[in-house]
Amino acid sequence: MNKQLDVIVGLQWGDEGKGKVVDKLTPQYKTVARFQGGPNAGHTLVFGERKFVLHSIPSGIFNEGVVNLIGNGVVLDPVVLTQEIEHLHTQGVATQGKIWLSKKAHLILPTHRLIDAAQESAKAGAKIGSTLRGIGPTYTDKTNRVGLRVGDVLQPNFKQKYAAAKEQHLQYLSSFKGTFELDAQAEQKWLQSIDTLQKYVSIVDGEYALNERLQTSNVLAEGAQGAMLDVDFGSYPFVTSSSTISAGACTGLGVAPQRIGEVFGVFKAYCTRVGSGPFPTELNDAVGEQLRQQGGEFGSTTGRSRRCGWLDLVALRYAVMLTGTTQLCVMKADVMDNFDTIKVAVGYKINGIETDQYPYETDAQIEPIYREFEGWKQDISACRSQQDLPKKLLDYLKFIELQIGVPITFVSTGADRDSGCSIG
Ligand code: GDP
Ligand code: IMO
Ligand code: MG
Repeated sequence: MNKQLDVIVGLQWGDEGKGKVVDKLTPQYKTVARFQGGPNAGHTLVFGERKFVLHSIPSGIFNEGVVNLIGNGVVLDPVVLTQEIEHLHTQGVATQGKIWLSKKAHLILPTHRLIDAAQESAKAGAKIGSTLRGIGPTYTDKTNRVGLRVGDVLQPNFKQKYAAAKEQHLQYLSSFKGTFELDAQAEQKWLQSIDTLQKYVSIVDGEYALNERLQTSNVLAEGAQGAMLDVDFGSYPFVTSSSTISAGACTGLGVAPQRIGEVFGVFKAYCTRVGSGPFPTELNDAVGEQLRQQGGEFGSTTGRSRRCGWLDLVALRYAVMLTGTTQLCVMKADVMDNFDTIKVAVGYKINGIETDQYPYETDAQIEPIYREFEGWKQDISACRSQQDLPKKLLDYLKFIELQIGVPITFVSTGADRDSGCSIG
Protein backbone atom coordinates (compact mmCIF):
# COMPACT_ATOMS: atom_id res chain seq x y z
CA MET A 1 0.00 0.00 0.00
CA ASN A 2 2.72 2.50 -0.83
CA LYS A 3 1.40 3.95 -4.08
CA GLN A 4 0.14 7.48 -4.25
CA LEU A 5 -2.53 9.69 -5.71
CA ASP A 6 -0.97 12.60 -7.60
CA VAL A 7 -3.32 15.47 -8.33
CA ILE A 8 -3.48 18.07 -11.11
CA VAL A 9 -5.38 21.24 -10.27
CA GLY A 10 -5.99 24.58 -11.92
CA LEU A 11 -4.70 27.49 -9.84
CA GLN A 12 -6.65 30.31 -11.49
CA TRP A 13 -10.19 30.58 -12.92
CA GLY A 14 -10.06 27.50 -15.14
CA ASP A 15 -8.71 26.92 -18.66
CA GLU A 16 -5.11 26.99 -17.45
CA GLY A 17 -4.13 24.08 -19.73
CA LYS A 18 -4.81 21.21 -17.30
CA GLY A 19 -5.74 18.82 -20.12
CA LYS A 20 -2.36 19.22 -21.78
CA VAL A 21 -0.50 18.59 -18.50
CA VAL A 22 -2.60 15.48 -17.78
CA ASP A 23 -1.84 14.08 -21.23
CA LYS A 24 1.85 14.83 -20.83
CA LEU A 25 2.10 13.09 -17.43
CA THR A 26 -0.17 10.12 -18.24
CA PRO A 27 2.63 7.82 -19.54
CA GLN A 28 3.82 7.59 -15.91
CA TYR A 29 0.45 6.22 -14.74
CA LYS A 30 -1.95 3.36 -15.38
CA THR A 31 -5.02 5.24 -14.13
CA VAL A 32 -6.29 8.78 -14.63
CA ALA A 33 -9.38 9.91 -12.71
CA ARG A 34 -11.61 12.98 -12.96
CA PHE A 35 -12.89 13.90 -9.51
CA GLN A 36 -15.30 16.83 -9.83
CA GLY A 37 -17.13 19.14 -12.20
CA GLY A 38 -18.84 17.93 -15.33
CA PRO A 39 -19.36 19.10 -18.90
CA ASN A 40 -18.75 22.69 -17.82
CA ALA A 41 -15.11 21.68 -18.33
CA GLY A 42 -13.38 21.79 -21.70
CA HIS A 43 -9.89 20.29 -21.72
CA THR A 44 -8.02 20.72 -24.99
CA LEU A 45 -5.43 18.34 -26.40
CA VAL A 46 -3.46 19.14 -29.54
CA PHE A 47 -1.49 16.53 -31.47
CA GLY A 48 -0.03 18.17 -34.54
CA GLU A 49 -2.96 19.05 -36.81
CA ARG A 50 -5.46 17.22 -34.63
CA LYS A 51 -7.33 18.88 -31.79
CA PHE A 52 -9.69 17.32 -29.24
CA VAL A 53 -11.76 18.99 -26.53
CA LEU A 54 -12.82 16.69 -23.70
CA HIS A 55 -15.69 17.59 -21.38
CA SER A 56 -16.27 14.43 -19.32
CA ILE A 57 -13.64 11.89 -20.37
CA PRO A 58 -10.33 12.14 -18.48
CA SER A 59 -7.44 13.44 -20.56
CA GLY A 60 -5.52 10.16 -20.23
CA ILE A 61 -7.67 8.61 -22.98
CA PHE A 62 -5.06 9.13 -25.72
CA ASN A 63 -2.54 6.89 -23.99
CA GLU A 64 -2.59 3.13 -24.43
CA GLY A 65 -3.13 0.81 -21.47
CA VAL A 66 -4.57 3.51 -19.22
CA VAL A 67 -7.87 3.26 -17.36
CA ASN A 68 -9.79 6.55 -17.26
CA LEU A 69 -12.17 6.73 -14.34
CA ILE A 70 -14.99 9.26 -14.03
CA GLY A 71 -15.26 9.51 -10.26
CA ASN A 72 -18.19 9.86 -7.86
CA GLY A 73 -17.53 13.59 -7.45
CA VAL A 74 -18.31 14.26 -11.12
CA VAL A 75 -21.75 15.21 -12.45
CA LEU A 76 -22.38 13.39 -15.68
CA ASP A 77 -24.50 14.24 -18.71
CA PRO A 78 -24.89 10.91 -20.54
CA VAL A 79 -25.64 12.68 -23.83
CA VAL A 80 -22.35 14.61 -23.69
CA LEU A 81 -20.37 11.52 -22.70
CA THR A 82 -21.80 9.31 -25.47
CA GLN A 83 -21.20 12.06 -28.04
CA GLU A 84 -17.64 12.44 -26.84
CA ILE A 85 -17.00 8.72 -27.07
CA GLU A 86 -18.56 8.49 -30.54
CA HIS A 87 -16.49 11.44 -31.72
CA LEU A 88 -13.32 9.71 -30.53
CA HIS A 89 -14.36 6.56 -32.40
CA THR A 90 -14.84 8.49 -35.64
CA GLN A 91 -11.32 9.85 -35.15
CA GLY A 92 -9.91 6.35 -34.72
CA VAL A 93 -9.33 6.65 -30.97
CA ALA A 94 -10.22 3.38 -29.26
CA THR A 95 -12.03 3.60 -25.93
CA GLN A 96 -13.07 -0.03 -25.42
CA GLY A 97 -12.33 -1.08 -21.84
CA LYS A 98 -10.64 2.28 -21.13
CA ILE A 99 -13.48 4.26 -19.54
CA TRP A 100 -14.78 3.40 -16.10
CA LEU A 101 -17.67 5.25 -14.54
CA SER A 102 -18.41 5.40 -10.82
CA LYS A 103 -21.89 4.25 -9.77
CA LYS A 104 -21.94 7.16 -7.34
CA ALA A 105 -21.49 9.91 -9.94
CA HIS A 106 -24.65 12.02 -10.19
CA LEU A 107 -26.62 12.32 -13.41
CA ILE A 108 -27.40 15.65 -15.07
CA LEU A 109 -31.02 15.43 -16.26
CA PRO A 110 -32.38 17.50 -19.17
CA THR A 111 -34.45 19.40 -16.60
CA HIS A 112 -31.28 20.31 -14.65
CA ARG A 113 -30.15 22.27 -17.71
CA LEU A 114 -33.50 24.06 -17.84
CA ILE A 115 -33.23 24.94 -14.14
CA ASP A 116 -29.71 26.29 -14.72
CA ALA A 117 -31.09 28.55 -17.49
CA ALA A 118 -34.13 29.60 -15.44
CA GLN A 119 -32.02 30.45 -12.37
CA GLU A 120 -29.52 32.42 -14.43
CA SER A 121 -32.20 34.42 -16.21
CA ALA A 122 -33.87 35.20 -12.87
CA LYS A 123 -30.62 36.68 -11.57
CA ALA A 124 -31.00 39.71 -13.84
CA GLY A 125 -27.98 41.96 -13.14
CA ALA A 126 -25.99 39.49 -11.01
CA LYS A 127 -25.61 36.53 -13.37
CA ILE A 128 -22.83 34.07 -12.56
CA GLY A 129 -22.21 33.38 -16.23
CA SER A 130 -22.87 29.67 -15.78
CA THR A 131 -22.00 27.40 -18.70
CA LEU A 132 -25.69 26.36 -18.58
CA ARG A 133 -24.74 22.69 -18.51
CA GLY A 134 -26.91 21.97 -15.45
CA ILE A 135 -23.95 21.76 -13.07
CA GLY A 136 -25.29 23.83 -10.13
CA PRO A 137 -28.79 22.26 -10.09
CA THR A 138 -27.34 18.73 -10.22
CA TYR A 139 -25.01 19.36 -7.27
CA THR A 140 -27.96 20.99 -5.47
CA ASP A 141 -30.00 17.78 -5.85
CA LYS A 142 -26.98 15.76 -4.70
CA THR A 143 -26.61 17.66 -1.43
CA ASN A 144 -30.38 17.81 -1.06
CA ARG A 145 -30.31 13.98 -1.29
CA VAL A 146 -32.76 13.74 -4.16
CA GLY A 147 -30.32 13.18 -7.06
CA LEU A 148 -30.17 10.31 -9.52
CA ARG A 149 -26.89 8.45 -9.72
CA VAL A 150 -25.23 6.36 -12.41
CA GLY A 151 -25.79 3.20 -10.35
CA ASP A 152 -29.54 3.85 -10.48
CA VAL A 153 -29.61 3.11 -14.21
CA LEU A 154 -28.90 -0.53 -13.38
CA GLN A 155 -31.97 -0.75 -11.12
CA PRO A 156 -35.34 -1.98 -12.41
CA ASN A 157 -37.13 1.12 -11.10
CA PHE A 158 -34.86 3.63 -12.88
CA LYS A 159 -37.57 4.93 -15.23
CA GLN A 160 -39.91 5.60 -12.28
CA LYS A 161 -37.15 7.38 -10.37
CA TYR A 162 -36.39 9.48 -13.42
CA ALA A 163 -40.08 10.35 -13.93
CA ALA A 164 -40.43 11.42 -10.29
CA ALA A 165 -37.34 13.65 -10.44
CA LYS A 166 -38.49 15.17 -13.72
CA GLU A 167 -41.92 15.93 -12.26
CA GLN A 168 -40.38 17.73 -9.29
CA HIS A 169 -38.15 19.74 -11.59
CA LEU A 170 -41.02 20.73 -13.88
CA GLN A 171 -43.03 21.88 -10.91
CA TYR A 172 -40.13 24.00 -9.71
CA LEU A 173 -39.63 25.42 -13.21
CA SER A 174 -43.25 26.55 -13.36
CA SER A 175 -42.47 29.09 -10.63
CA PHE A 176 -40.12 31.02 -12.96
CA LYS A 177 -41.10 33.84 -15.25
CA GLY A 178 -40.55 32.85 -18.88
CA THR A 179 -40.89 29.47 -20.53
CA PHE A 180 -38.48 26.69 -19.76
CA GLU A 181 -40.10 23.75 -21.49
CA LEU A 182 -38.70 20.27 -21.71
CA ASP A 183 -38.01 19.40 -25.32
CA ALA A 184 -39.42 15.91 -26.01
CA GLN A 185 -36.62 15.10 -28.46
CA ALA A 186 -33.93 16.17 -26.01
CA GLU A 187 -35.49 13.93 -23.38
CA GLN A 188 -35.65 11.00 -25.79
CA LYS A 189 -32.01 11.48 -26.68
CA TRP A 190 -31.08 11.54 -22.99
CA LEU A 191 -32.94 8.28 -22.30
CA GLN A 192 -31.36 6.63 -25.34
CA SER A 193 -27.90 7.73 -24.30
CA ILE A 194 -28.39 6.05 -20.93
CA ASP A 195 -28.75 2.75 -22.82
CA THR A 196 -25.94 3.45 -25.31
CA LEU A 197 -23.58 4.42 -22.54
CA GLN A 198 -23.74 1.02 -20.94
CA LYS A 199 -22.20 -0.48 -24.09
CA TYR A 200 -19.32 1.97 -24.05
CA VAL A 201 -18.21 2.18 -20.41
CA SER A 202 -17.74 -0.06 -17.39
CA ILE A 203 -19.94 1.02 -14.50
CA VAL A 204 -17.95 0.31 -11.35
CA ASP A 205 -17.71 0.89 -7.62
CA GLY A 206 -15.22 3.65 -8.26
CA GLU A 207 -13.81 3.93 -4.76
CA TYR A 208 -13.08 0.20 -4.53
CA ALA A 209 -11.71 0.06 -8.07
CA LEU A 210 -9.37 2.99 -7.48
CA ASN A 211 -8.08 1.87 -4.09
CA GLU A 212 -7.37 -1.55 -5.56
CA ARG A 213 -5.38 0.00 -8.40
CA LEU A 214 -3.54 2.19 -5.89
CA GLN A 215 -2.10 -0.96 -4.34
CA THR A 216 0.07 -1.56 -7.38
CA SER A 217 0.44 1.73 -9.26
CA ASN A 218 0.15 5.48 -8.80
CA VAL A 219 -3.03 7.22 -9.91
CA LEU A 220 -3.27 10.67 -11.51
CA ALA A 221 -6.31 12.74 -10.49
CA GLU A 222 -7.48 15.35 -13.01
CA GLY A 223 -9.16 18.46 -11.66
CA ALA A 224 -11.55 20.65 -13.60
CA GLN A 225 -12.06 24.42 -13.29
CA GLY A 226 -9.60 26.13 -10.92
CA ALA A 227 -9.02 26.98 -7.27
CA MET A 228 -10.43 30.49 -7.75
CA LEU A 229 -13.75 28.94 -8.84
CA ASP A 230 -13.93 26.64 -5.80
CA VAL A 231 -17.34 26.60 -4.11
CA ASP A 232 -15.81 27.40 -0.69
CA PHE A 233 -12.78 29.50 -1.50
CA GLY A 234 -13.56 31.16 -4.83
CA SER A 235 -15.20 34.57 -5.10
CA TYR A 236 -18.61 33.25 -3.97
CA PRO A 237 -21.22 33.31 -5.47
CA PHE A 238 -19.26 33.70 -8.74
CA VAL A 239 -17.94 30.16 -8.53
CA THR A 240 -18.77 26.67 -9.71
CA SER A 241 -20.59 24.20 -7.43
CA SER A 242 -17.81 21.76 -6.57
CA SER A 243 -14.59 21.50 -4.61
CA THR A 244 -11.92 22.22 -7.20
CA ILE A 245 -8.93 22.05 -4.82
CA SER A 246 -6.86 18.90 -4.20
CA ALA A 247 -8.98 17.96 -1.16
CA GLY A 248 -11.80 17.48 -3.68
CA ALA A 249 -9.85 14.58 -5.15
CA CYS A 250 -10.27 12.66 -1.86
CA THR A 251 -14.04 13.11 -1.60
CA GLY A 252 -14.52 12.95 -5.37
CA LEU A 253 -12.76 9.59 -5.68
CA GLY A 254 -12.96 7.97 -2.25
CA VAL A 255 -9.23 8.07 -1.55
CA ALA A 256 -7.82 8.98 1.88
CA PRO A 257 -5.89 12.29 2.25
CA GLN A 258 -2.62 10.65 3.27
CA ARG A 259 -2.46 8.97 -0.16
CA ILE A 260 -1.94 12.30 -1.92
CA GLY A 261 1.62 12.59 -3.23
CA GLU A 262 2.50 15.31 -5.74
CA VAL A 263 0.13 18.16 -6.44
CA PHE A 264 0.75 19.72 -9.87
CA GLY A 265 -0.60 23.26 -9.87
CA VAL A 266 -1.25 24.56 -13.38
CA PHE A 267 -1.37 28.28 -14.18
CA LYS A 268 -1.05 30.55 -17.20
CA ALA A 269 1.72 33.14 -17.43
CA TYR A 270 -1.16 35.66 -17.31
CA CYS A 271 -4.79 35.32 -16.15
CA THR A 272 -8.14 34.67 -17.78
CA ARG A 273 -11.67 34.32 -16.50
CA VAL A 274 -14.95 33.38 -18.23
CA GLY A 275 -18.22 34.54 -16.72
CA SER A 276 -18.81 37.14 -14.03
CA GLY A 277 -17.02 37.89 -10.77
CA PRO A 278 -14.00 39.77 -9.45
CA PHE A 279 -10.83 39.81 -11.54
CA PRO A 280 -8.38 42.27 -9.94
CA THR A 281 -5.79 42.32 -12.73
CA GLU A 282 -8.26 42.39 -15.63
CA LEU A 283 -7.18 44.49 -18.61
CA ASN A 284 -10.01 46.19 -20.45
CA ASP A 285 -7.63 47.71 -22.97
CA ALA A 286 -5.46 46.95 -25.98
CA VAL A 287 -3.09 44.77 -23.90
CA GLY A 288 -6.03 42.62 -22.73
CA GLU A 289 -7.13 42.32 -26.35
CA GLN A 290 -3.60 41.33 -27.38
CA LEU A 291 -3.60 38.53 -24.78
CA ARG A 292 -7.03 37.37 -25.99
CA GLN A 293 -6.03 37.29 -29.65
CA GLN A 294 -2.53 35.85 -29.22
CA GLY A 295 -3.69 33.35 -26.59
CA GLY A 296 -6.80 32.36 -28.54
CA GLU A 297 -8.76 33.09 -25.38
CA PHE A 298 -12.19 31.91 -26.41
CA GLY A 299 -13.94 29.25 -24.31
CA SER A 300 -13.42 25.55 -25.18
CA THR A 301 -16.93 24.72 -23.97
CA THR A 302 -19.10 27.74 -24.73
CA GLY A 303 -16.94 29.68 -27.23
CA ARG A 304 -17.35 32.79 -25.03
CA SER A 305 -14.63 35.39 -25.10
CA ARG A 306 -12.38 35.03 -22.03
CA ARG A 307 -11.56 38.08 -19.91
CA CYS A 308 -7.78 38.60 -19.81
CA GLY A 309 -5.33 40.23 -17.41
CA TRP A 310 -1.86 40.16 -15.87
CA LEU A 311 -0.63 37.35 -13.66
CA ASP A 312 -1.92 37.76 -10.10
CA LEU A 313 0.47 36.43 -7.45
CA VAL A 314 -1.91 37.22 -4.58
CA ALA A 315 -4.51 34.86 -6.06
CA LEU A 316 -1.81 32.35 -7.06
CA ARG A 317 -0.30 32.26 -3.55
CA TYR A 318 -3.78 31.70 -2.12
CA ALA A 319 -4.48 28.88 -4.60
CA VAL A 320 -1.12 27.20 -3.85
CA MET A 321 -1.88 27.36 -0.12
CA LEU A 322 -5.34 25.81 -0.58
CA THR A 323 -4.18 23.06 -2.91
CA GLY A 324 -0.85 22.15 -1.33
CA THR A 325 0.81 22.47 -4.74
CA THR A 326 4.23 20.83 -4.79
CA GLN A 327 5.16 21.57 -8.42
CA LEU A 328 4.11 24.45 -10.63
CA CYS A 329 3.43 24.15 -14.37
CA VAL A 330 3.36 27.48 -16.18
CA MET A 331 1.41 27.48 -19.42
CA LYS A 332 1.17 29.70 -22.50
CA ALA A 333 4.42 31.57 -21.87
CA ASP A 334 4.72 31.83 -25.68
CA VAL A 335 1.64 34.07 -25.78
CA MET A 336 3.76 36.90 -24.35
CA ASP A 337 6.71 36.40 -26.72
CA ASN A 338 6.36 39.84 -28.31
CA PHE A 339 5.42 41.91 -25.24
CA ASP A 340 7.75 44.84 -24.47
CA THR A 341 6.70 44.91 -20.83
CA ILE A 342 5.12 42.26 -18.63
CA LYS A 343 3.44 43.10 -15.35
CA VAL A 344 2.77 40.87 -12.35
CA ALA A 345 0.60 41.77 -9.36
CA VAL A 346 2.55 41.14 -6.15
CA GLY A 347 0.03 42.67 -3.72
CA TYR A 348 -3.24 44.59 -3.52
CA LYS A 349 -4.17 47.98 -2.18
CA ILE A 350 -7.70 47.98 -0.76
CA ASN A 351 -9.04 51.26 0.64
CA GLY A 352 -5.48 52.55 0.70
CA ILE A 353 -4.19 49.59 2.75
CA GLU A 354 -1.69 47.14 1.28
CA THR A 355 -2.36 43.44 1.65
CA ASP A 356 -1.07 40.16 0.26
CA GLN A 357 -4.32 38.32 1.03
CA TYR A 358 -7.28 37.68 -1.23
CA PRO A 359 -10.26 39.56 0.27
CA TYR A 360 -13.61 38.09 1.35
CA GLU A 361 -15.65 40.90 -0.19
CA THR A 362 -16.43 40.37 -3.87
CA ASP A 363 -17.07 44.08 -4.32
CA ALA A 364 -13.75 45.19 -2.80
CA GLN A 365 -12.11 47.96 -4.85
CA ILE A 366 -8.77 46.32 -5.45
CA GLU A 367 -5.83 48.23 -6.85
CA PRO A 368 -3.13 45.74 -7.82
CA ILE A 369 0.46 46.57 -6.94
CA TYR A 370 2.53 45.65 -9.99
CA ARG A 371 6.10 44.65 -10.58
CA GLU A 372 7.30 45.19 -14.15
CA PHE A 373 9.54 42.97 -16.25
CA GLU A 374 11.10 43.48 -19.64
CA GLY A 375 9.68 41.08 -22.22
CA TRP A 376 12.01 38.44 -23.71
CA LYS A 377 10.95 39.36 -27.27
CA GLN A 378 11.85 36.00 -28.72
CA ASP A 379 9.89 33.14 -30.27
CA ILE A 380 10.06 30.34 -27.69
CA SER A 381 7.78 27.88 -29.46
CA ALA A 382 10.67 25.63 -30.52
CA CYS A 383 12.37 25.58 -27.09
CA ARG A 384 12.62 22.06 -25.72
CA SER A 385 15.04 22.44 -22.84
CA GLN A 386 15.92 24.95 -20.14
CA GLN A 387 19.05 26.05 -22.04
CA ASP A 388 16.88 27.07 -25.00
CA LEU A 389 14.77 29.49 -22.94
CA PRO A 390 15.64 33.22 -22.94
CA LYS A 391 17.29 34.53 -19.78
CA LYS A 392 14.60 37.18 -19.31
CA LEU A 393 11.90 34.49 -19.23
CA LEU A 394 13.90 32.41 -16.75
CA ASP A 395 14.33 35.52 -14.54
CA TYR A 396 10.57 36.10 -14.69
CA LEU A 397 9.93 32.47 -13.69
CA LYS A 398 12.54 32.63 -10.90
CA PHE A 399 10.76 35.69 -9.50
CA ILE A 400 7.43 33.80 -9.48
CA GLU A 401 9.04 30.79 -7.77
CA LEU A 402 10.53 32.98 -5.04
CA GLN A 403 7.24 34.79 -4.50
CA ILE A 404 5.24 31.57 -4.31
CA GLY A 405 7.80 29.32 -2.61
CA VAL A 406 7.17 26.31 -4.86
CA PRO A 407 9.36 25.16 -7.79
CA ILE A 408 8.28 25.57 -11.40
CA THR A 409 9.04 22.26 -13.08
CA PHE A 410 7.39 22.69 -16.48
CA VAL A 411 7.08 25.60 -18.91
CA SER A 412 4.65 25.18 -21.77
CA THR A 413 5.55 26.97 -25.00
CA GLY A 414 2.68 25.99 -27.31
CA ALA A 415 -0.59 24.09 -27.44
CA ASP A 416 0.92 20.94 -28.93
CA ARG A 417 1.61 17.88 -26.79
CA ASP A 418 5.35 18.24 -27.47
CA SER A 419 5.68 21.99 -26.87
CA GLY A 420 7.43 22.81 -23.63
CA CYS A 421 10.41 22.23 -21.37
CA SER A 422 10.96 20.59 -18.02
CA ILE A 423 12.99 22.93 -15.84
CA GLY A 424 14.53 22.83 -12.41
P1 GDP B 1 -8.04 23.38 -19.45
O1 GDP B 1 -9.52 23.55 -19.32
O2 GDP B 1 -7.31 23.81 -18.22
O3 GDP B 1 -7.62 22.01 -19.91
O4 GDP B 1 -7.59 24.41 -20.60
P2 GDP B 1 -8.37 24.72 -21.98
O5 GDP B 1 -8.18 23.58 -22.90
O6 GDP B 1 -9.76 25.17 -21.74
O7 GDP B 1 -7.62 26.03 -22.47
C1 GDP B 1 -6.25 26.04 -22.73
C2 GDP B 1 -6.05 26.49 -24.18
O8 GDP B 1 -4.70 26.84 -24.37
C3 GDP B 1 -6.31 25.38 -25.17
O9 GDP B 1 -6.75 25.93 -26.37
C4 GDP B 1 -4.93 24.74 -25.34
O10 GDP B 1 -4.79 24.07 -26.59
C5 GDP B 1 -4.06 25.95 -25.27
N1 GDP B 1 -2.71 25.76 -24.72
C6 GDP B 1 -2.31 24.94 -23.72
N2 GDP B 1 -0.99 25.16 -23.44
C7 GDP B 1 -0.59 26.13 -24.27
C8 GDP B 1 0.66 26.81 -24.46
O11 GDP B 1 1.65 26.60 -23.76
N3 GDP B 1 0.70 27.79 -25.42
C9 GDP B 1 -0.38 28.09 -26.19
N4 GDP B 1 -0.23 29.05 -27.09
N5 GDP B 1 -1.55 27.45 -26.06
C10 GDP B 1 -1.66 26.50 -25.09
P1 IMO C 1 -12.19 23.94 -17.22
O1 IMO C 1 -12.17 22.59 -16.53
C1 IMO C 1 -13.39 28.14 -17.06
C2 IMO C 1 -17.09 29.07 -14.88
C3 IMO C 1 -18.25 29.58 -15.69
C4 IMO C 1 -18.97 30.43 -14.66
C5 IMO C 1 -18.77 29.64 -13.37
C6 IMO C 1 -19.95 28.77 -13.01
O2 IMO C 1 -12.25 23.86 -18.69
O3 IMO C 1 -11.10 24.80 -16.68
P2 IMO C 1 -20.95 26.48 -13.94
O4 IMO C 1 -21.41 26.10 -15.32
O5 IMO C 1 -19.87 25.63 -13.41
O6 IMO C 1 -22.09 26.62 -12.99
O7 IMO C 1 -20.35 27.98 -14.13
O8 IMO C 1 -17.63 28.84 -13.58
N1 IMO C 1 -16.52 27.77 -15.35
C7 IMO C 1 -15.36 27.66 -16.00
N2 IMO C 1 -14.49 28.60 -16.44
N3 IMO C 1 -13.09 26.83 -17.22
C8 IMO C 1 -13.93 25.88 -16.76
O9 IMO C 1 -13.61 24.57 -16.79
C9 IMO C 1 -15.15 26.28 -16.17
N4 IMO C 1 -16.21 25.61 -15.63
C10 IMO C 1 -17.01 26.53 -15.14
O10 IMO C 1 -17.81 30.33 -16.79
O11 IMO C 1 -18.28 31.66 -14.50
MG1 MG D 1 -11.11 24.56 -20.25
